[in-house]
Amino acid sequence: MSEGAAAMNAMSENWIAVGKLGDIPRLGSRRVLSRERTIAVFRTVNDEIYAIEDKCPHKEGPLSQGIVHDRCVTCPLHNWVISLETGEAQGADEGAVKTFRVRVADNGDILICTGDLAPAS
Ligand code: FES
Repeated sequence: MSEGAAAMNAMSENWIAVGKLGDIPRLGSRRVLSRERTIAVFRTVNDEIYAIEDKCPHKEGPLSQGIVHDRCVTCPLHNWVISLETGEAQGADEGAVKTFRVRVADNGDILICTGDLAPAS
């Protein structure tokens, strides 16, 4: 993608604030409700932020209540390990949850890309 096209793409996307980085403890999470789904926003020990659907690909367990380690979360129901980066189940387990682009603004706001919130068509 050319630099101009990348800039246009960035300009056409909107981001919404869903809370402050300081509101989520390290290795913790916060649930964000959108019209279509529930999103789990995680903070790693290194202050990285990830957002994935709060629905385990196994049997829809609440991933926001799981244990965060490295860049993964372990589901509280049957211990599947889900990558926070890709949303994919790790190891021998198969399946994936939707991921959302997320970033932290200079003022500490956690921002989620609204383009990722649109319902799947
Ligand atoms: S529902 Fe998550 S491991 Fe079973």
